[in-house]
Amino acid sequence: MAIVTCKLLFSLYSFLFLIIVSLTKAQPNFLYNICVDKGNYTTNSTYENNLNTLLSNLTSNTEINYGFYNFSHGQNNDKVNAIGLCRGDVKPDVCRSCLNDSRVLLPKLCPNQKEAIGWYDNCMLRYSNRSIFGIMEESPGFYMWNPYNASEVDQFNQVLGNLMTKLMEKAASSDSRRKFATDNDTDVNFQPIYGLVQCTPDLSFQDCSDCLEDAISEIPNCCNNKKGGRVIKPSCNIRFESYLFYDPTPIIDPEKISPPPQGKNKSSHTTIAIVVSIVVAVVVVALLSFICIYSMRSKPKINLEEVEQDHDDIEIEESLQFNFDTIQVATNNFSDANKLGQGGFGIVYQGELSTGQVIAVKRLSKGSGQGDSEFKNEVLLLAKLQHRNLVRLLGFCLEGKERILIYEFVPNKSLDYFLFDPLKRSQLEWERRYKIIQGIVRGLLYLHEDSRLRIIHRDLKASNILLDNNMNPKISDFGMARLLLVDQTQVNTNKVVGTYGYMAPEYAMFGQFSIKSDVFSFGILVLEITSGLKVCGDLHEQSMEDLLSFVWRNWREGTITNIIDPSLNNDSRNEIMRCIHIGLLCVQENEVERPTMATIALMLSSYSVSLPLPLEPVSFIGGRTRSISISDTQI
Ligand SMILES: *[C@@H]1O[C@H](CO)[C@@H](O)[C@H](O)[C@H]1NC(C)=O
Ligand SMILES: *[C@@H]1O[C@H](CO)[C@@H](O)[C@H](O)[C@H]1NC(C)=O
Ligand SMILES: *[C@@H]1O[C@H](CO)[C@@H](O)[C@H](O)[C@H]1NC(C)=O
Ligand SMILES: *[C@@H]1O[C@H](CO)[C@@H](O)[C@H](O)[C@H]1NC(C)=O
Ligand SMILES: *[C@@H]1O[C@H](CO)[C@@H](O)[C@H](O)[C@H]1NC(C)=O
Ligand SMILES: *[C@@H]1O[C@H](CO)[C@@H](O)[C@H](O)[C@H]1NC(C)=O
Ligand SMILES: *[C@@H]1O[C@H](CO)[C@@H](O)[C@H](O)[C@H]1NC(C)=O
Ligand SMILES: *[C@@H]1O[C@H](CO)[C@@H](O)[C@H](O)[C@H]1NC(C)=O
Repeated sequence: MAIVTCKLLFSLYSFLFLIIVSLTKAQPNFLYNICVDKGNYTTNSTYENNLNTLLSNLTSNTEINYGFYNFSHGQNNDKVNAIGLCRGDVKPDVCRSCLNDSRVLLPKLCPNQKEAIGWYDNCMLRYSNRSIFGIMEESPGFYMWNPYNASEVDQFNQVLGNLMTKLMEKAASSDSRRKFATDNDTDVNFQPIYGLVQCTPDLSFQDCSDCLEDAISEIPNCCNNKKGGRVIKPSCNIRFESYLFYDPTPIIDPEKISPPPQGKNKSSHTTIAIVVSIVVAVVVVALLSFICIYSMRSKPKINLEEVEQDHDDIEIEESLQFNFDTIQVATNNFSDANKLGQGGFGIVYQGELSTGQVIAVKRLSKGSGQGDSEFKNEVLLLAKLQHRNLVRLLGFCLEGKERILIYEFVPNKSLDYFLFDPLKRSQLEWERRYKIIQGIVRGLLYLHEDSRLRIIHRDLKASNILLDNNMNPKISDFGMARLLLVDQTQVNTNKVVGTYGYMAPEYAMFGQFSIKSDVFSFGILVLEITSGLKVCGDLHEQSMEDLLSFVWRNWREGTITNIIDPSLNNDSRNEIMRCIHIGLLCVQENEVERPTMATIALMLSSYSVSLPLPLEPVSFIGGRTRSISISDTQI
């Protein structure tokens, strides 16, 4: 009875936690945001207080206006200035809620940063200790584009150019309350083009036209020949699409709108409903807690949380543990016909459970030094990591000397199978490779930062990137990743596990691994993906030049096209070059110079992030790391 009650209680806690999480995590992500590194404030400083006051006043200010807010608060060095701008066609309540989301989210994303800026579809918020009112600023900014190409490009561009110029003049010359214009036109195929331009209304006619003119002139950089695109800057922004994306109803003067009374009632009803359910839930939980604690009175000093934790883990452990017999049947007694390959840690088989579920079974090489409980702990830990770019661990089997890991089955083999095969590599056109790179970034970012545990992979390489039916990448074999204490970023180990060529120098030489040693391996992987060459192996055997020296030599000499896999077509040169650039930044000898996965994600998602110039990467052939013998198959 007590156990059932406690189980129920546990579910209720989880449920309440979910409610709280969903209530507090209400803000959607920005389209883009930048923490401008122009100085930091300290926690509890006057600047922070001023910023908080200013931001909380931003939307509590109920005065109806034209979608532009400019405020400042504080004195001298602690003065904070903020500008909020809503898109011109957005209704006041939508505007307010968009700015409200921004003001909650932006300081969270840019903690202690004096200057920051964030953009949603419907609004922009920026703040700084500098004066920003009435000043035209064109950076930082970003581009977005519609993936589809326009047809009849020349005519399309002509119509688009005329439309944008017309809108620019209209917006720049509107009054100082709202500098905004939208309109549409049709190209030769009678396809509509919808355009929108906007300046912050604090700009002069000249500043607004200058800003918009520059933005329009950047369309070829941003979204050449695309059906839609946006150029977005702090002081102005433009957008065009082949579909109607703005509210075309003429803008009514805000003075003439009376606030809809219905909305308020509705929301207060919902509030009441939520409050009532929370109160009921709290009462039930309190009651259950009482019963639960009461029934455990005989065991004093037990921390309720610990009990739940144990309970939880034991339950997980039970559901994750498979019988050896089951696995034997599933893999047809580990038959050679079922063998998928030999991984670093043992042989991998394909199997099918009696439920019909297809699995991958990794039978670990015997004699690994790990104890049973250590093994179980690791499995429990890894099974908790779930991300669409990670191969999912479904369970384990531990019987006698047998240690087996059961994974989801990923149908399409691994990246190296395609990438390094002269025929199959043509199936990986650039768009696909780029998506694979992005997926690996997401998976690693999750391992490094977003999961509850900080996991360092330590053996990232092309054969550890599996591809599913849609060629989405899934990182596998993070089994040797170790749990790091949260504030620990680096660990010394005498067990070096990894693969020659992918290992960062500090790891290969001193056994020091960190998220930055994974970044190094990622850099190698990106260079392999862009060049189609293996980091160690068949490359330029006669000259003994390794991948890094080869890439670096061509980079330095400006012959970057030599690096690019000849089976890739020419259209995406810029994107490929940018990836090579990022790859080089990841393989810098000094780990401090290597970007984090979060920065890499940003570099890939926005072209407005400028990349530092890479220095000469580590040279492995130089000798230092060559003398160390490294085993690929130890744990
Ligand atoms: C803003 O803060 C930075 C760094 O603290 C400082 O260098 C700069 O002078 C400040 N600007 C103004 C206008 O106070
Ligand atoms: C502000 O803090 C960030 C992170 O804490 C740091 O990277 C940056 O260098 C600091 N900027 C200045 C100007 O001190
Ligand atoms: C910030 O100030 C408040 C009171 O002014 C104080 O209670 C709190 O401990 C301070 N926090 C830090 C981190 O200094
Ligand atoms: C906050 O807004 C209210 C109402 O608009 C105004 O009276 C008050 O002065 C503002 N406070 C600050 C610090 O700007
Ligand atoms: C805000 O904008 C108005 C004009 O729209 C201007 O008169 C006022 O000085 C600005 N306030 C601040 C604090 O910059
Ligand atoms: C602003 O956002 C906060 C936090 O998400 C929320 O509690 C508050 O009700 C919102 N205010 C308005 C006016 O929407
Ligand atoms: C757009 O055109 C480029 C060549 O200019 C082509 O490579 C690409 O596949 C096209 N994209 C779409 C979505 O049609
Ligand atoms: C398109 O433009 C025409 C004339 O310029 C206008 O009458 C029509 O309402 C516009 N349509 C939209 C959806 O903006």
